[in-house]
Amino acid sequence: MKILCEKDYRSMSKRAASIIAAQIVSHPKSILGLATGSSPIGTYQTLIEWYHQGYLDFSEVHAVNLDEYKGLTPHNPQSYAYFMRENLFDQINIKAENTHIPNGMAVDEEAECIRYDNIIDQLGGIDLQLLGIGHNGHIGFNEPAEVFEKDTHCISLSESTIAANSRLFEQIEEVPRFAYTMGIRPIMQAKKILIIASGSAKAEIVRKAFCEAVTPSVPASILQLHPDVTLVADADALKDLGDGCRKGCCD
Ligand code: GLP
Repeated sequence: MKILCEKDYRSMSKRAASIIAAQIVSHPKSILGLATGSSPIGTYQTLIEWYHQGYLDFSEVHAVNLDEYKGLTPHNPQSYAYFMRENLFDQINIKAENTHIPNGMAVDEEAECIRYDNIIDQLGGIDLQLLGIGHNGHIGFNEPAEVFEKDTHCISLSESTIAANSRLFEQIEEVPRFAYTMGIRPIMQAKKILIIASGSAKAEIVRKAFCEAVTPSVPASILQLHPDVTLVADADALKDLGDGCRKGCCD
């Protein structure tokens, strides 16, 4: 695993965007696995800038998103479908039909999970997966559990995730209690994984995930077993990493 230390959110975002840009430039038909949350917003803004400057072309790129709240329509401003349109898709030349996200309004939960896994499989898997990390170590909405869940599933969100995500809602009661998430299998089968983390609030979980044992109680820890993972983080998020784990980053 490669750890790249940047001084702050802005430079973390630029570094992460450079890695995604390199992927698109070298493989214009890339399948990108994309994430929501505060962490990737700066990365997306940088990609949008470079698109407007003529450096990037998304016309043949496909995007598969990690997750979506159950019960929110794509027009609900709190939905991840809305987030992605607002923060990336509507500002670049990606084709709407090439963007995929679980349908939070699906009537048949099981059928929706199968449909989403089929989309990923039919695309041939993910070339580059972008991830954030939740305060409890979740990736996508793969919450701490007894086992790693491999396929797309509908999950009951933990109280800590509901509390963390309530900052984006007017009241905590409005945060959906369930969400669809891509499973661990397509994430781990991605050719490359780029995980980003910013701020001291993420320092403890970054240490647990990347310097301690691989365990489903810290879902992101499984990334230690992937052959091509890059963690791009700012100094605050890396401050709790032991010397053995830092391997010269931030020096
Ligand atoms: C949400 C998303 C995750 C994201 C996490 C961290 O729960 N489902 O994909 O990584 O929050 O979000 P943030 O980047 O805002 O800390």
